[in-house]
Amino acid sequence: MKKERYTIAVLPGDGIGPEVMAEALKVLQAVALKNRFQVQLNQADVGGVAIEKFNTPLPASTLQTCRQADAVLLAAIGHPRYDSLPSDKRPEKGLLGLRAELGLYANLRPAKIYPSLIGASTLKEEVVRDIDLLIVRELTGGLYFGEPRGLQQEMGFNTMVYRRHEVERIAQTAFEAAARRGKKVTSVDKANVLEVSQFWRKIVLQVAARYPDIALDHYYVDNCAMQLVRNPRQFDVILTENLFGDILSDEASMLTGSLGMLPSASLGTGSAMYEPVHGSAPDIAGKNIANPIAMIASVAMMLRYSFDRSQEAEGVETAISRVLEAGYRTRDIAAEGDRVVSTSEMGALITEAL
Ligand code: IPM
Ligand code: MG
Repeated sequence: MKKERYTIAVLPGDGIGPEVMAEALKVLQAVALKNRFQVQLNQADVGGVAIEKFNTPLPASTLQTCRQADAVLLAAIGHPRYDSLPSDKRPEKGLLGLRAELGLYANLRPAKIYPSLIGASTLKEEVVRDIDLLIVRELTGGLYFGEPRGLQQEMGFNTMVYRRHEVERIAQTAFEAAARRGKKVTSVDKANVLEVSQFWRKIVLQVAARYPDIALDHYYVDNCAMQLVRNPRQFDVILTENLFGDILSDEASMLTGSLGMLPSASLGTGSAMYEPVHGSAPDIAGKNIANPIAMIASVAMMLRYSFDRSQEAEGVETAISRVLEAGYRTRDIAAEGDRVVSTSEMGALITEAL
């Protein structure tokens, strides 16, 4: 909703999180100033930093801050230091808890190629040219949350389960998105093996009947992974369950050159959350070399989806494109002849370009 003043929960998290968040906030402040609205930023801890301070990856106070906000900005969580902890105590649990508690069932992950970055992809130019696809990933169900699950001495198990309403609402999100884009949905499952996928497919077909103008096809997930590198331009909206979407979105991000470029929006019934697709990259944390573009583009998604400010969102996206066109790159996307800049320089350049 468009307002004069927004309250935003700011969760920098771990690793490179605080560095990329700082740049995104610079950009946000500049947009707010220019367009005469105000932002109240409420910082909170999640992930490893919350474990250190509060002994839990998702403190109740953080959840409260998020619930009271118009939107949540999250940078990244996780560190190998916690790898030996049980899953309920790990930093990842903070992120999963937020998704579950805020009811963020729809994760939108656009993968679009910036023309000036076409050379940064490991794939051939003619394969990645003009890629513009959107992964709609179910985010609060499937293997990540299904019961029963357990870790025992001699076995470990998880359950992939989907209920009718869960498939219906995410399918609807995908068809609505396709209606505003290329009018095509590719539903991804493993219906040749899994009953849960056969159910998924049946419900998707029922929802599709309400959208006669939208083309629908079904891919098995293994085939989809292959098609993404063979001919990614065939895709408009990819609709898929939680784990498949996790995997395919990392793959899709590399089509565009770097995992450091892709933003995401997680939408539900309450306040939405915006975060980069990438993780906390502990190996490069604190060095001022991380790419802040995914985080900055996540701010653009927030402006568009939560604040009803598409023009401002486009302003940010254009500023990113301009800086890239001028030849500035963080290390992850740099080729010979590019001007390599730091995290904070990239943030400053994009702010200036606004
Ligand atoms: C993502 C991440 C998370 C996920 C992890 C950090 C829990 O990989 O957002 O894609 O698996 O969903
Ligand atoms: Mg992932």
